[in-house]
Amino acid sequence: MIALVYQDVLGARFTLMDRTGIQGDLREPSFRSLTEPKDGNWEVTHIENGVKYTLDPRKVMFSSGNVDERMGIVDILDKGPKPPRIKVIGGKEVIIDMFAGIGYFTLPISLKCNVSKIYSIEKNPISYYYLERNIRSNNISGKVVPIHGDNRKVGPDEKADRIIMGYVGGTIDFIPRSLEFASKYGCIIHLHDTIKIEEGPLGYHKRVQRICHEQGYRSELLSWRMVKSYAPRIDHVVLDILIIPEDDVKV
Ligand SMILES: C[S@@+](CC[C@H](N)C(=O)[O-])C[C@H]1O[C@@H](n2cnc3c(N)ncnc32)[C@H](O)[C@@H]1O
Repeated sequence: MIALVYQDVLGARFTLMDRTGIQGDLREPSFRSLTEPKDGNWEVTHIENGVKYTLDPRKVMFSSGNVDERMGIVDILDKGPKPPRIKVIGGKEVIIDMFAGIGYFTLPISLKCNVSKIYSIEKNPISYYYLERNIRSNNISGKVVPIHGDNRKVGPDEKADRIIMGYVGGTIDFIPRSLEFASKYGCIIHLHDTIKIEEGPLGYHKRVQRICHEQGYRSELLSWRMVKSYAPRIDHVVLDILIIPEDDVKV
């Protein structure tokens, strides 16, 4: 059987076959098991740039195609533009990760960047279970506060200097909610989404600007990156956006 040959060559413990790709807003995979682990343990621990991600691949997604962005965000925090409050009064950043998953961005940022706190919101209960476990196994419990639930209904009281929106397929609809999380000085948002190549990041950002203006904010596109090709003529792109209240400081 081909699965056994692959397993043997790669030194894997079990083999899964992808049936439908990732489904729905909870990003649930659908796999058929071709071979089973001898010890009954389906969990795997993927170590990437010193960060440990434990998950059950039958139950939660892991996008190996996003590896550059997982580490790229660390560089951007270290070397990129600073959020408005930090520029004005200094100190360390407060971050909200609105779509935390198992900690795809939360873990590398909290391990490698000098931040004050990360609030990591996740709706899928299984992903949330692994998020909590990964926070413990990477020894970052003091820095990261996991929050279980839908980010439209739950969130921290503390406001954010930086917001990570690592979700694709309609992320723009969550902009009004992200503005409720923003510091009164404004914030930097890392906004992922799938964008038609006819519209492109600049056209997409014009839509972001309109939404922000309706909520009393202006938006400036600092930079953008292509994460990967998502489908024919659709790219997964991340936009780094500076959001400032139109009346300068929201009190
Ligand atoms: C797919 S993950 C992000 C993947 C990541 N960009 C990567 O590098 O692999 C997005 C997560 O957002 C969660 N999610 C979706 N809608 C949500 C919501 N309204 N509130 C909180 N979490 C949500 C999903 O359950 C999922 O775990």
